[in-house]
Amino acid sequence: MIEVTNLTKRYGPHLAIDGLNFTVAKGEVVGFLGPNGAGKTTTMKIITGYMAPSDGSVKVAGFDVFENPVEVKQRIGYLPEVPPVYTDMYVNEYLTFVAKLKGVPSEKIASMVDSSLQKTNLQEVHKRLIKNLSKGFRQRVGIAQALVSDPEILILDEPTVGLDPKQVAEIRHLIQELRKSHTIILSTHILPEVQASCERIIIINRGRIVAEDSLEGLSRKMSRGQRIFLKIRRNSKELVDSIASLDGVRKVESVDGNGVLHVDTDETEDLLERLSDHVVKKGVGLLEMRSSTFNLEDIFLKLTGSESHIAKH
Ligand SMILES: Nc1ncnc2c1ncn2[C@@H]1O[C@H](COP(=O)(O)OP(=O)(O)O)[C@@H](O)[C@H]1O
Ligand SMILES: [Mg+2]
Repeated sequence: MIEVTNLTKRYGPHLAIDGLNFTVAKGEVVGFLGPNGAGKTTTMKIITGYMAPSDGSVKVAGFDVFENPVEVKQRIGYLPEVPPVYTDMYVNEYLTFVAKLKGVPSEKIASMVDSSLQKTNLQEVHKRLIKNLSKGFRQRVGIAQALVSDPEILILDEPTVGLDPKQVAEIRHLIQELRKSHTIILSTHILPEVQASCERIIIINRGRIVAEDSLEGLSRKMSRGQRIFLKIRRNSKELVDSIASLDGVRKVESVDGNGVLHVDTDETEDLLERLSDHVVKKGVGLLEMRSSTFNLEDIFLKLTGSESHIAKH
């Protein structure tokens, strides 16, 4: 349904996205996950035909975004990061305006506006001025305008940013409804967002795809390993190196100056025992030891290495 090939965008000398390749099949709900500045919005703008790439191509339902922009725009509903909502318009007036812009035949406009109001649960406010609506309702107006031409594909760029938890839950519920009848790409820097709404995840960092898998697959991959937390009274580089050389240990990290170590391991049954024996024999004062399996958040942090940019809701 969507085919992205070698997509590249430079802003002046700055390489925002760097040779992206991915496809989205009909009916899929794909999460495009990455920290701020990763290149998500840039990619969404190019796929929807609002910006030209520096290199590469995008095909939607077989049509090239730049050779057949009308064919493509008919098939896509786009919720931009900052929705182009004209705040001095009434909700129904605005949706009618967008429907006309999108080339909905005039005899169909009223019913399409109605159905987009219905899908987004906006009937009760359709005669209100957009500027008098809460942020959650405005976001729904943004989604309603994406739906008003009844497109097969929805591209939603950070649909819940800036909303309160109740509004976030409402928008997620709405996405659950929409996924039944649409192909969806949802971009977000918030991990729980993809966990809530997507079946496949593409993780992007600094303009490159760093992982691509089903939600299940990514979680499974990671749960094969373990992280063991150690707290040592007398930590030293020598101790860290000796742990690193044990069979089944992938990586040892000294987390702070207080002797807390993270030991990432392969799936090895007796490692916990060998590790505790090893540390006890060294006589360094083992204060604490516990293990945990990786979760999706660990994967994301690992792949993007940018803890500070990640929001945890
Ligand atoms: N119009 C622009 N001019 C110059 N640089 C830009 C512009 N838009 C985005 N960038 C840069 O491109 C990179 C990717 O931005 P963006 O696609 O907005 O990322 P995301 O949506 O993942 O936060 C960032 O480094 C950003 O600063
Ligand atoms: Mg963005």
